[in-house]
Amino acid sequence: MTKVLFVVSECAPLVKTGGLADVAGALPLALGAFDCDVRILLPGYRAVMAQLSKTRVLETYDDLFGGPAKLRHCVHAGLTLYVIDAPHLYDREGGIYGDVTGQDWPDNPARFAALSYVGATIADKGAGDWTPDILHGHDWQAGLTPEYLHVAACDVPFVFTVHNIAFHGNTTADQLNALRLAPTRFNADHFEFWGQISALKAGLMGAAKITTVSLTYAEELLTPEFGIGMDGVLRYRKAELSGIVNGIDAATWNPATDPNIKPYKSAAGKAANKKMLQKTFGLDPSDGPLCVLVSRLTEQKGIDLLVDALPELLSHGGQLALLGSGDPKLEVSLLEFAAHNENVAVKIGYDENLSHQMMAGGDVILVPSRFEPCGLTQLYGLRYGTVPLVALTGGLADTVINASPAALSNNAATGIQFFPVNAQALTNAFRRLCALYQQPKVWKILQRNGMKQAVGWDMSAAEYHAIYRGLTKASS
Ligand code: ADP
Ligand code: GLC
Repeated sequence: MTKVLFVVSECAPLVKTGGLADVAGALPLALGAFDCDVRILLPGYRAVMAQLSKTRVLETYDDLFGGPAKLRHCVHAGLTLYVIDAPHLYDREGGIYGDVTGQDWPDNPARFAALSYVGATIADKGAGDWTPDILHGHDWQAGLTPEYLHVAACDVPFVFTVHNIAFHGNTTADQLNALRLAPTRFNADHFEFWGQISALKAGLMGAAKITTVSLTYAEELLTPEFGIGMDGVLRYRKAELSGIVNGIDAATWNPATDPNIKPYKSAAGKAANKKMLQKTFGLDPSDGPLCVLVSRLTEQKGIDLLVDALPELLSHGGQLALLGSGDPKLEVSLLEFAAHNENVAVKIGYDENLSHQMMAGGDVILVPSRFEPCGLTQLYGLRYGTVPLVALTGGLADTVINASPAALSNNAATGIQFFPVNAQALTNAFRRLCALYQQPKVWKILQRNGMKQAVGWDMSAAEYHAIYRGLTKASS
């Protein structure tokens, strides 16, 4: 039995802003089949504490980065959790990373240093009667973990998974003491990055193995365009870097049993869901493809390209139903576009149930991202017979097979890809999409091919297991 502690800042179903939470909630269960006991260390945000009952206090801290704290243990939704109950860090109104206006919390460096610090403490001293063999941190919020392992002289190996290189978790050098970091390691070999403290760099330099969430993104990360300043560090650590594509929680995302929709086993069952979805979004019945998009609204996701390219889709009788929230400027431009186009409907907000209904009722799932480490909504789309139209980048390149004539005739095609990632190429992709949609036989084949594709966690969990095995063997 390999004992692994995930150090992570969000975890579905308790707290989620994006795909990281889905991974943290599903991968531990999938690893259970590989004789791994994976537990999850999570900040005790207000919303998390409100959902937990029957927790057991395992540890108390007089001063965890500015106030008293407790380490609580519980099992929730099948997940074994350690939760850091530290009101001065996590009990507040607003989001988990920022306030109600979307502004990052100024004390984020300390809030997530505390997460990493407690992770290292558990590796060093155990939690109750349990001590992990491996620490597995995710994104910059867990990046300082190897620094605290070093301070504690603890040699439990650290695996670091990069879900998104765009966030570095930097802070100024005058925080060294406050963050309890070793001043002797404030250098380019550890966590110093252009004169600042970088939690992401600490994780990349201190990890025994680095993974990211698709093979293509693992290659892209080595380039200046996608590495966003960290490409040099990643090239330096290239021998330890690998890509493991994400899976989806196949129980939660199963069209045959999904309680949010009219369940179906073949794509023919989508018609009733499409009708309901059009009603929900106030769209008229139409002969064209109904495209759906569920996303954070940020620069990364290419939402601005959509506004320029949509006229092509609409000119062929297509429709768009969009659910998302984020950048206020993008929200306004989408709402304005919808106000002037009866075939475009936009809901601003976050709605898990509606996102399931969109997968079931949509003909096409759009993912026009400028970069996408893996992406999950195209995977949900494949499972639901909702054909993905995606940018050719990162995990989108790895999980969708473009409907070229050869791929169509081989019954391999599952979706449509466009490149370069700009409005003109997306416009052309909408034209190709509408032409395919007008050929019901071809369209059915695309849907069927997608629905057959394996998108669960089994194969990728096996790859994580192999990494853990390699490390525990090396240290025993
Ligand atoms: P990222 O992690 O970059 O946001 P992913 O595609 O990996 O992108 O994961 C996004 C996850 O968040 C998916 O589960 C998606 O369904 C969900 N999601 C994003 N925005 C919303 C929203 N507004 N309402 C409901 N679910 C959303
Ligand atoms: C990040 C990425 C996304 C990925 C998710 C889970 O948020 O933007 O592409 O699917 O993490 O790994």
